[in-house]
Amino acid sequence: MDMTNWSGDFEFRSPARIIFGAGTVERVGEVAKSLGSKAPLIVTDPILHEIGLTEGAEKSLTEAGLNVEVFSGIATEPTLASVETAVEAFRAGDRDLIVALGGGSTIDSSKSMSLLLGNEGKLTEYHQSRVGTDWTPPRRVENRGAHIISVPTTAGTGSEVTAGSGVFNPDTGIKGWAGDPILRPSVAICDPVLNASMPPNVTADTGADALSQAMECYLVNRFKPTADTLAIKAIEVIGKYLPKAFANGQDIDARSAMLWSATTVGVAFGNGGLIHNHTYSEVLGDVTHLPHGRLLGIMLPFILDFNFVGCQEKLADIARALGENVDGISTRHAAEKGVAAVRRLMADIEIDDKLSDRGVTEEQIQTVAERVWAQHGPRSALSPRGFRTFDDVMGLLRQAY
Ligand SMILES: [Fe+2]
Repeated sequence: MDMTNWSGDFEFRSPARIIFGAGTVERVGEVAKSLGSKAPLIVTDPILHEIGLTEGAEKSLTEAGLNVEVFSGIATEPTLASVETAVEAFRAGDRDLIVALGGGSTIDSSKSMSLLLGNEGKLTEYHQSRVGTDWTPPRRVENRGAHIISVPTTAGTGSEVTAGSGVFNPDTGIKGWAGDPILRPSVAICDPVLNASMPPNVTADTGADALSQAMECYLVNRFKPTADTLAIKAIEVIGKYLPKAFANGQDIDARSAMLWSATTVGVAFGNGGLIHNHTYSEVLGDVTHLPHGRLLGIMLPFILDFNFVGCQEKLADIARALGENVDGISTRHAAEKGVAAVRRLMADIEIDDKLSDRGVTEEQIQTVAERVWAQHGPRSALSPRGFRTFDDVMGLLRQAY
């Protein structure tokens, strides 16, 4: 990152507290107690509960003298109904704090639980419109319903430190997004040992999410030196360690590097923002229900090709971060090396498929293009090269199809 102009202004919000390292899940009891909890609820999904991944947290909370219960009903894709069921469990058990142990879906569900526990009205009233240029939701989050301790079991979304919560509405077929600093977990306990159970395809998909979020954040046109510093360092670490974590899930060093990257990228993009790879992935996710990170990994090289003309210096920085030798070559050549390095990295982790390989249909592509076009405004304004026509939106989908 070579800053040539320091005269802009920016705002940067930090998460309250991050506790990081192998075995730190044992500290969840002490942390819950420090937040005044007597009756915490562990929120998780049925698979993690079944394989015993919640045991360390349960033991720690019990040993701290707290009355702990487990709710393991979080669906792979959180829905309005699944969040409401979780809220009922919280109320019925007279709970006072949420320990969100799982991937992005679980942590996002917990944030929406906290929203519903502390505020009037329906969840959908707090969702951004995602149409046109003004995405302001009808209602603002006023109160925190419960403290959240996030314990991520994947290294990807960064949800453990971000303020956003996505929940699918089956009536509309659209995932709605609520976002407010009040919803951010109070403490993130990042224990890489809990990431070791991820199978290679999930390591690849979630790792592609972290990489894409870091790159999209870095490419956002906005003065954000703190977010950029975090994002570019994370790109370097992901480039080195994602293939290792994919090759050997038990490599705790690689798991640690990836978890640090994902959490750090969460802090970065929570401040710096994202460009259109996430617009595509969010809409494609609604329409096809394919994994978020897989969709990002498939689309990322094409997003970089499209934006290339507007961000060659930044792509050259990315080339350097990914270990390319760019000494003595032109900025354009270095930028080309950056894009090629991303393509190779995706191939290394076996994200080398096309949307059609994954069963996406022509009809779905049309629906996705229309929705992306309807909501492209705010992110186009911040992209190195924003969309000008519907054909721009469709062209990228065609390339990835
Ligand atoms: Fe993401």
